[in-house]
Amino acid sequence: MKKIAIVGTGYVGLVTGVALSDIGHDVTCVDIDETKVAKMNQGKSPIYEPGLSELMTKNIEKGNLHFTTDHSIAFQNAAAIYIAVGTPERADGSANLDFVQQVARDIAANVSNQGAVVVTKSTVPVGTNKLVKHWITEALDRDITIEVVSNPEFLREGSAVYDTYNGDRIVIGAESEEAAELIEAINKPFGVPVFRTDIESAEMIKYASNAFLAAKISFINEIGTICGKLGANIEDVAAGMGMDKRIGDKFLNAGIGYGGSCFPKDTKALIQIAGGVNHKFDLLESVINVNNKQQQLPLDIAHMVVRGGLEGKKVAMLGLAFKPNTDDMRESASIVLAHKLADLGANITAFDPIAMDNAKRLLPESVHYVASTEEALQDADVAFIVTEWDEFKDLPLTVFEQKMKQPIVIDGRNCYPLSYVETANIDYYSIGRPSVIRAGKSNQPAN
Ligand SMILES: NC(=O)c1ccc[n+]([C@@H]2O[C@H](COP(=O)([O-])OP(=O)(O)OC[C@H]3O[C@@H](n4cnc5c(N)ncnc54)[C@H](O)[C@@H]3O)[C@@H](O)[C@H]2O)c1
Repeated sequence: MKKIAIVGTGYVGLVTGVALSDIGHDVTCVDIDETKVAKMNQGKSPIYEPGLSELMTKNIEKGNLHFTTDHSIAFQNAAAIYIAVGTPERADGSANLDFVQQVARDIAANVSNQGAVVVTKSTVPVGTNKLVKHWITEALDRDITIEVVSNPEFLREGSAVYDTYNGDRIVIGAESEEAAELIEAINKPFGVPVFRTDIESAEMIKYASNAFLAAKISFINEIGTICGKLGANIEDVAAGMGMDKRIGDKFLNAGIGYGGSCFPKDTKALIQIAGGVNHKFDLLESVINVNNKQQQLPLDIAHMVVRGGLEGKKVAMLGLAFKPNTDDMRESASIVLAHKLADLGANITAFDPIAMDNAKRLLPESVHYVASTEEALQDADVAFIVTEWDEFKDLPLTVFEQKMKQPIVIDGRNCYPLSYVETANIDYYSIGRPSVIRAGKSNQPAN
């Protein structure tokens, strides 16, 4: 059992802290957000992540999980201090390291354990861990040595707790063998394979992995657009491609693009990192351009198929979060869509099972929020499916028929098999698949 401090209790910090306490460590999480800390001290999770609240309560009760706003309390005798604060994008796309630098100052002011290991979980550009060591040692006024370890995080929001126990790898980048050993030992009970490397390679593994996954999504979306024009079905194409083990069947779902707190900012940051060594990352720039185009697609379809334009039309938005099982709205496709629809004068009614509170801060004020799918669809002229929540995937298509004024459904996430849609009396437009039009209506252009 080790004494561990976690700095930052967002999606990464809180999940990491809770899981490390659950495998037996004594964990104190520190955050500057007093409201969050007060909530966590009452045993309530400030974020929605399946299984997290239960695990939090269990370990608070066991006495090995604590929350504070005081860095000196968190760092007292900590063998490892994890940095899990945000690294948002700057206007030029590069990663903003201000929060990380502030944590370095907090560590210098409060670290008490000789040889404490500072572990960076935040996604940071190559070279940052060494910079963190420099920032800390420069500001330290006591005779304490520290080590740094890069330990990038790969959890997926929506299954973050599961991923922590079942990850594909734990990457540990270190100069000091001893520091790497400590972090490997801390993580041993998870039973996840460990990959050890140097600090710079560990930092790059994180960006390269996210950029590759984003590229896979943009690639399949481009193929989907071509399929739509040629009458091929992207789902069959992806299934056939995915059977090739060199390609793999994951991340081949065509849709209205990636969002979230990682892919958009990490792809831009990697372009900046490459630019810093005079390399123009053409491929990644295209990945981003394709994603921007993809987020525009539902609106392009609506312009083609909603007679008389969108002004004054009642529009239902089903799903607001950037993906299912999370309340995270950062860079969600719903933000782009809602603002464009509002600019066109559409009356938007929106429903999301979890993310509506967060959505209110990011979507136009005119959006009307309701408590159910059925309410959102009532008298709507067109429905957009933005997030593939199970709740929508399991919805009988008769609900669209019965509730909507005109049953025009633009499914940005390919939620229903076309064979099922063909049994319903709706006009259905999805991504990279043939459109299904109500009997008796003239065929509409494929997307
Ligand atoms: N969210 C993800 O799915 C995910 C996955 C992998 C990696 N990452 C990376 O992990 C990092 C954290 O992401 P997140 O989504 O958890 O961020 P977040 O914005 O949800 O949380 C960051 C937290 O840090 C706190 N904080 C800021 N400065 C602080 C300080 N000086 N002391 C204490 N607390 C402080 C904030 O109040 C906030 O609660 C980012 O670099 C991100 O790119 C995120």
